[in-house]
Amino acid sequence: MPTYPPEPFRIKMVEPIRLVSPEERRKAIQAAGYNVFALRAEDIFIDLLTDSGTGAMSDRQWGALMQGDESYAGARSFLRLEKAVHDIFGFNYFVPAHQGRAAENILSACLVKPGQYVPSNMHFDTTDANIRARGGRPTNLVIEEASDPSNMHPFKGNMDIAKLKAFIEKIGPENIPFGMMTITNNAGGGQPISMANLRAVSKAYHSQGIPFFLDAARYAENSYFIKLREPGYADKSTLDITREMFALADGMCMSAKKDAIVNIGGLLCVNDEALYRTICNELILREGFYTYGGLAGRDLDAMAVGLYEGLDEAYLAYRLGQTAYLAAIINAAGFPTIQPAGGHAVYIDAGSVLPQIPHGEFPGQALAVEMYLEGGIRSCEIGSVMFAHPDPDSGEIIYPSLELVRLAIPRRTYTQSHMDYIGDTLARIASRADNLRGYKFTYAPELLRHFTAKFQPL
Ligand code: F0G
Repeated sequence: MPTYPPEPFRIKMVEPIRLVSPEERRKAIQAAGYNVFALRAEDIFIDLLTDSGTGAMSDRQWGALMQGDESYAGARSFLRLEKAVHDIFGFNYFVPAHQGRAAENILSACLVKPGQYVPSNMHFDTTDANIRARGGRPTNLVIEEASDPSNMHPFKGNMDIAKLKAFIEKIGPENIPFGMMTITNNAGGGQPISMANLRAVSKAYHSQGIPFFLDAARYAENSYFIKLREPGYADKSTLDITREMFALADGMCMSAKKDAIVNIGGLLCVNDEALYRTICNELILREGFYTYGGLAGRDLDAMAVGLYEGLDEAYLAYRLGQTAYLAAIINAAGFPTIQPAGGHAVYIDAGSVLPQIPHGEFPGQALAVEMYLEGGIRSCEIGSVMFAHPDPDSGEIIYPSLELVRLAIPRRTYTQSHMDYIGDTLARIASRADNLRGYKFTYAPELLRHFTAKFQPL
């Protein structure tokens, strides 16, 4: 059996969770239209819907929260956050934002013009949507290995540098307001990006005069993967690795709800002064004054502490170890997952275990519903429910290549016995996987349909 790293913390406050009866679960999922997003959280035993804003803050973060300065402008909380952001990421200017997508919205509003392209390894869905909302065209250029679930490439989130150069050549740098990289690559399995690749991406953008932005929600997990896997980094601290990564970029958007381990918050950083001024104006219009950005002073303080805690190496060793452990026990239960295990989540390859369910009947959805019925576990389909769309020309439905179910692990929240419980639940499902049936929509909105769609079992 894989080893489980002992949690480098002990528990000072608890939140009760409860496994409701199988009959209550059946009624709850039926009332939710078989969409796990519509379940009440109190009907869930283990919630792996997302690792975003769901982590447990530390005693030091709760202590910092009590010192929040709620002044409208120039609060001490802002100055403390500014110090941390500058120390860790080094950019010249920064503003807080209420979460990652708010930072993406402001950046896109300031830079993207209709018809322009924004390349990345893979955009997360909110980044993709914010670029599209300004008439832009997000473009994914991740390496080929990313689409093969069993390929053991150590940095499967890397950009395909040859493709990127060819893309810039074809589109023309004047049609690319900025380039991005998502670290780690959430949409592609939480996979890391190497320093060598970031360096090459930075060079490819900069040699053509294109500003380079990081989507840095999981900066700390990416830094620790570099420490573990990239030659020459074993003896460097995650803080130094982080500084080296961000020195390659001209700015970043960040959801602080992930590696900064806060329940709400985000950041937008830039080096360019003129851009910073434009951002401040846009921020004041949409989010709030530039020293609070839509957050309370106490949120800024919790973030300032969390930005460092996310980089703690004992914590990161446990964090990545816990994810790898969950992947290993799920594999032992008979379910293949994207290999190697990513940082924040395990991605089950539902399509390959439920071959009797075609794309159009949503194998990932079938498994997500079954995990709730069998064990009160909430996960998230990342497959045809989320991504299938009609071809604009032929009208034919285009399905994604993989039908995945993501089990995202909240930070410092669940223990080894919770992980074992998930493995046991999946083992029971595996023994009757042949009997699972698919679903059909009874309601589906046109965009971002996974959030509100309703289903019927077939
Ligand atoms: N970028 C990445 C890579 C993300 O994973 C997310 C959020 C965002 C940006 C947007 O940040 O939620 O603070 O507005 N990911 C969450 C998830 C929602 O479940 O993966 P946000």
